[in-house]
Amino acid sequence: MQPSVSAKNLQKTFGDFVAVDSISFEVEKGEIYGFLGANGAGKTTTIRMLCGLLEPTSGDAMVAGFSIKKDPEEVKKRLGYMSQKFSLYPSLTVEENIDFYAGLYGKDDEFIKQRMPEVIKYTELDGLEKKIVGDMPGGLKQRVALACAIAHKPEIVFLDEPTAGVDPLLRRRFWEIIDMLSKSGITVFVTTHYMDEVEHCHRIALMNSGCIIKEGTIHDIKASVFKKPIMEIESEAPVEAYKLLSLKRGELGELSIHGALIHLIPTGGMEQAGKVIAETLGNAGIKFSKPENVEPTMEDVFVNLVKGSEADGK
Ligand SMILES: Nc1ncnc2c1ncn2[C@@H]1O[C@H](COP(=O)(O)OP(=O)(O)O)[C@@H](O)[C@H]1O
Ligand SMILES: [Mg+2]
Repeated sequence: MQPSVSAKNLQKTFGDFVAVDSISFEVEKGEIYGFLGANGAGKTTTIRMLCGLLEPTSGDAMVAGFSIKKDPEEVKKRLGYMSQKFSLYPSLTVEENIDFYAGLYGKDDEFIKQRMPEVIKYTELDGLEKKIVGDMPGGLKQRVALACAIAHKPEIVFLDEPTAGVDPLLRRRFWEIIDMLSKSGITVFVTTHYMDEVEHCHRIALMNSGCIIKEGTIHDIKASVFKKPIMEIESEAPVEAYKLLSLKRGELGELSIHGALIHLIPTGGMEQAGKVIAETLGNAGIKFSKPENVEPTMEDVFVNLVKGSEADGK
């Protein structure tokens, strides 16, 4: 089966500035593909090119079987796009907004009538069909915007930071909806700068300064960046413990402090590191729990990769 999205050396420059630097990747049908990166990384510019809204400076991408360069109009018909600054009609109801967007895609009344209950169900807007959108809280507006983006039954949806500024509980529900869309066969291309959200994606691409610095499943990325496990030390005096352990960096390895927890990427064996920690903190009379192996967070991974790519002069 051909991939939903296949980008080859996609590049966008604005004057001398390279916003997207020859990126290549593929997204499979039904996949949730996450684009992760800080502000200014080039996520929105990539999405706008893939949606046929912005012509690439060079390179091309096939989206839903059509070239974004040669057939942007065909591409547009087959996708849904929820932009970062989506615009809904505040004086219209939920239903009227959905109706309006489906109409923009050339769908007739018959299609919309059949599609409406499905869209409402997917986005969990049951009972809110007649509510005026302008009166709704932000988290719900986001779901209405998603409903508008999928109203015409696209093969792919592009969601640009759909959960920005939404509280954690509603963010979680939004991801459940995304999961359901993917299970129904829709390809989801989604950007975010919340590191914790990538756990919901099947694969992710980490973007920095216009480049994809890493791509793969979260598990693979974590494993490739951190070949050794991370040791986590909890103690009653973390700052003092951190200072003391830092004096032994040479023996121990790389240390960092995360709130009340200390993380160590040991240079030598774990057992050896455990002994040094016990001795150092024991001598100072600081109580601590036995160091545990933990998985690195995506934040750890991202910081490490960006440091690495900048050191390479990329
Ligand atoms: N139309 C434009 N003209 C000039 N620079 C732009 C334009 N659009 C985006 N940029 C720049 O390109 C870079 C990437 O922007 P963007 O794709 O919006 O990043 P992200 O969505 O990851 O925050 C930024 O430095 C931004 O200022
Ligand atoms: Mg953006």
